[in-house]
Amino acid sequence: MTEINHRIADHPIHSIFLERWSPRAFTGEEISQEELLALFEAARWAPSASNIQPWRFVYARRGTEHFASLLETLDEGNQRWAKKASALVIVLSKTHRLTSAGEVRPAYTHAFDTGAAWFALALQAQLAGWHAHAMAGVDRDKAVRVLGVPEHHRVEAAVAIGRIADPSTLPDDLRERERPSQRKPIGEFVFEGRFKAD
Ligand SMILES: Cc1cc2nc3c(=O)[nH]c(=O)nc-3n(C[C@H](O)[C@H](O)[C@H](O)COP(=O)(O)O)c2cc1C
Repeated sequence: MTEINHRIADHPIHSIFLERWSPRAFTGEEISQEELLALFEAARWAPSASNIQPWRFVYARRGTEHFASLLETLDEGNQRWAKKASALVIVLSKTHRLTSAGEVRPAYTHAFDTGAAWFALALQAQLAGWHAHAMAGVDRDKAVRVLGVPEHHRVEAAVAIGRIADPSTLPDDLRERERPSQRKPIGEFVFEGRFKAD
C-alpha cells in the first residue's frame, strides 16, 4: 500500500500517479520556452489510433502578448486563479482525417487520443516540478474566434501550468478546496467479463 498526498493506492503503482494533482495556487513565475516545449515533447509521444496524432495545442507563456488573450477564453471562475499560471494551453483535437482515397472521414478516437496526449504532458510537468491543471470551463466559441481554429477541430479543454504556491495566496473559497482529491474504489469502475450498471 502506498500513501502520498493523503491518497492511498490499494495496489502497487508508481508514486507519480498519487503525486500528480490539480492545484489552483500558482506562484505566477515565468516558464522558459525550452521547459514548456519539453512538456509538449512528452505529449508528442502519446499513442493514437493509426498514429494519426490528432492533438493540437495552442499555448501562451506568461509575460508574452498572447497570455491575456488565452486567459480571456476561460470561464471567469477559472480566470480567477489561472491568471497566476506560468503558461496557458488550449487543447484541441482534429476530428476528421483524410483517407488514402482522399476522403474526409470522422476520426473516431480523436478525443481519446488527445486525452492520452494531455495526460502525458501532465505527468511530464509533474516530473519537471510543475503542475498542470485541466479546465473544461472554456468559452469554446470565443476560443475558436480568438485562436483562429479551422473547421474539423474541437476545443477539448484548457490547461494551466504553473509552479505550486502556498494555498494562503488563494481567495477564501478556493483555499478551502485546495487539496488532492480522492477516488472511487476500483470495484466501482472495473468489471470482469461483463458490464455492471450502477
Ligand atoms: C477535462 C477536465 C476538465 C476540468 N475542468 C476544470 C475546470 O474547469 N476548473 C477547475 O478548477 N478544475 C477542472 N478540472 C480539474 C478536476 O476537477 C480535477 O482533475 C479532479 O477533481 C481530480 O482532481 P486532481 O486532478 O487534483 O487529482 C478539470 C479536469 C479535467 C481532466
